[in-house]
Amino acid sequence: MNLRTPGPTPLPEPVRQALARDMVNHRGPEFAALMRETVQILKELFRTQHDLLILTGSGTGGLEAAAVNMLSPGDKVLAVSIGYFGDRFARIAEAFGAQVRRLSFPWGQAADPEQVRAALAEDPDLGVVLVTHNDTSTGVTNDLEALTRVVKGAGRLLLVDAVSSIGSVPLETDAWGCDVVITGSQKSWMTPPGLALVSVSPAAWEAHRRARTPRFYWDFTAHAKQVERGSTPWTPAVSAIYGLNVAVKLMQAEGLEAIFARHRRVADYARGRLRELGLRLLADERHASNTVTAFFAPEGVDQKRVLRRLREERDVVLAGGQGHLEATLMRIGHMGYVDVPAVKAALDALADVLAQERAAAPAVR
Ligand SMILES: Cc1ncc(COP(=O)(O)O)c(C=O)c1O
Repeated sequence: MNLRTPGPTPLPEPVRQALARDMVNHRGPEFAALMRETVQILKELFRTQHDLLILTGSGTGGLEAAAVNMLSPGDKVLAVSIGYFGDRFARIAEAFGAQVRRLSFPWGQAADPEQVRAALAEDPDLGVVLVTHNDTSTGVTNDLEALTRVVKGAGRLLLVDAVSSIGSVPLETDAWGCDVVITGSQKSWMTPPGLALVSVSPAAWEAHRRARTPRFYWDFTAHAKQVERGSTPWTPAVSAIYGLNVAVKLMQAEGLEAIFARHRRVADYARGRLRELGLRLLADERHASNTVTAFFAPEGVDQKRVLRRLREERDVVLAGGQGHLEATLMRIGHMGYVDVPAVKAALDALADVLAQERAAAPAVR
């Protein structure tokens, strides 16, 4: 199957083999060595020297962990949203009693750092800022470095949903001053779903000690204590960690710069080919994502039918849209274990199916 959803993403063969390993004692020495090595390499890939936690849960679990560890009920939070996942992060903070001020941008656009600066200047009590680095629903990557300069320049805490960015596109956790960075194993990490990877800065630890939201399973203190022992406070998804260990070594061997260049190459190819097919892309070109591209189904063509035909007749799996664009948008993932030929094969199949569908709907186009 040519799986081209923006997560889960395909697995390299050595990762698949690692998943078949038998269980070990997650309190034993083999697992401790595996965890320590994995955390060490992850820190390199996150570009951080601070703490890195491996939580068992999905990306949303990682976002919730950030919320319950950093916030107290009643805290004022600025949620910068450019799409479906920005809205989700805001809803999570609200669910735990934060007073959330939303700063939303139209789908397809990136966040304007100047508007963030103005919002923070207007209300000094907005102590925490939530940002999505790359919104997977729109295929837009925010200028996180510029946003970080604004947020940290104003002395606020910055929580970054980097679920579909870090590991594929540049994110300098320490150099830019990101306080909590969250991702999920099924995205850039070429690993099955099941793990949330979270970095925690010294300023985030201070906020954590003050935060009063009830927490137990996600408690960063409980996790950090165990990291030192190469363990986790509760039983982790051991098999996913076997896979992650192999995947991060593959990433380390390829090198971050080469990984970023590969993602740029594949994304350029995908965008160029989709435009050649006459398809309208959602993202503002200047902020188009290198991990996922969202495009509109041609007028008069049934998006669901195209997705079904691709899956059933060509073994190609693309994603539909989300939120209000669920039925009109299509998305192709080009993240993690991907190169041009895999995306070309998917888009060749799309070209064929669209040609047939357009021919069958001549009145429209
Ligand atoms: C940007 C972003 N944030 C959060 C999530 C939620 O992650 P999960 O589905 O692993 O809970 C996703 C998943 O697609 C995502 O792309």
